[in-house]
Amino acid sequence: MSKREINHALLLVNIRQLLTLSATRNAGPRRGADLSDLGMIEDGAVLCVGGKIVSAGKTKPARSDVWVRRNRKRIVEIDCAGRVVLPGFVDSHTHPAFVSPRLVDFEKRVAGATYEQIAAAGGGIRSSADGVRKAGKAQLAEKVLAALREMSSYGTTAVEAKSGYGLSLEAEMKSLEAIRIAAAKWPGTVVPTLLGAHVVPQEFQDKPHEYVAMVCEQTIPQAAKRKLAQFVDAFCDAGAFGEEDSAKIFEAAGRNGLQVRAHISQLNRTPLRRLLTFDPASLDHLDHLDDDDISLLARTNTIATLVPGANYFLGLEKYPPARKLINAGAAVALATDYNPGSSPTANMPFVLSLACTQMQMSPAEAVAAATINGAWALRLQERKGSIEAGKDADLAVFDVSDYREIAYWVAANRCLQTVLNGELQQNCLAK
Ligand code: NIG
Ligand code: FE
Repeated sequence: MSKREINHALLLVNIRQLLTLSATRNAGPRRGADLSDLGMIEDGAVLCVGGKIVSAGKTKPARSDVWVRRNRKRIVEIDCAGRVVLPGFVDSHTHPAFVSPRLVDFEKRVAGATYEQIAAAGGGIRSSADGVRKAGKAQLAEKVLAALREMSSYGTTAVEAKSGYGLSLEAEMKSLEAIRIAAAKWPGTVVPTLLGAHVVPQEFQDKPHEYVAMVCEQTIPQAAKRKLAQFVDAFCDAGAFGEEDSAKIFEAAGRNGLQVRAHISQLNRTPLRRLLTFDPASLDHLDHLDDDDISLLARTNTIATLVPGANYFLGLEKYPPARKLINAGAAVALATDYNPGSSPTANMPFVLSLACTQMQMSPAEAVAAATINGAWALRLQERKGSIEAGKDADLAVFDVSDYREIAYWVAANRCLQTVLNGELQQNCLAK
């Protein structure tokens, strides 16, 4: 049973295109041609009971099903009248635990400053720490909850949420607690990640190794002990943490029973070989890869999570090499990277659009990357990312008649309804 008891059942019918993303013959995350296999059913129907999917098929047999006929009164029927239904997006990389937008950074960047120059001048990630440290837990939780609600209005039903703007033991714990409080008030699924190693905070500027030691010996053990995080993330890049420190952080995560993922090769290349030995669920950004990195990644189940919203917002001409990754057989996912510095968007359809127009992914590949491969990136593939009997009832209903429109209508929101663990949410478009 899902996190909330659902008394009624939901039957969605007359779905023009039901994208089930049901399993292909190959096990593991979607790669190569499998990324384009959406398992589409025309004139489809989905039955959800108790927060789970019971069946997905055609409308006619779903309506004449014996159980459906007997239980007519307790079933809420949703006529999808020619629309498109797909698994809710799994946004596998977000940073919602912050207080304020960074508008001065934004203006500076528009005027030509780079991400690194802004950080060096006292802006950037460190400048978000002040607000988080001063904020009350409840205030921070409200911010996280508002972000989660905005995400589900765009069709997202499962979210990874990182800490990382506290950068002290207390403020990182407070951020993870705020994520937990917000998650309990949102019907979707939240996977919490500790990103204590986002950057070295001001007070440790001259002793970065002491900060890494604190993250390894205090922050990670506390987060694990209090079950506040499932993953540990590290920003392994220029101006943040090196390969050696990131490896130490991953070792500490392992000692404390937590899984790992990393921000890597966003600004500068870090060879992936060493960090891949820690079996990260996902490596994210990946703007600077060489052919060796790509073929190594292709031989693992580590997901290559691309966040083109960051390239867009930072005004970069170059985007991650999605085509090369896909052609080499790497498993690619798409996420928003929702954060106040490099990607202030909760809009997964916009990310799909960027994937198509800037990274030459097809609309079908983008859908698979944002659903089933996002689920793999969070190791939730048994529960999320496809519409199959037994999986969580996480759906998005789009007011379009062809799935390709989701990526086509630039930065729009055509999501009409979202089903999160069986709970129906009407979005702003709904009449
Ligand atoms: O994923 N790269 C590191 N972290 C974020 C940016 C955070 C910020 O600028 O506030 C990212 O892009
Ligand atoms: Fe990020």
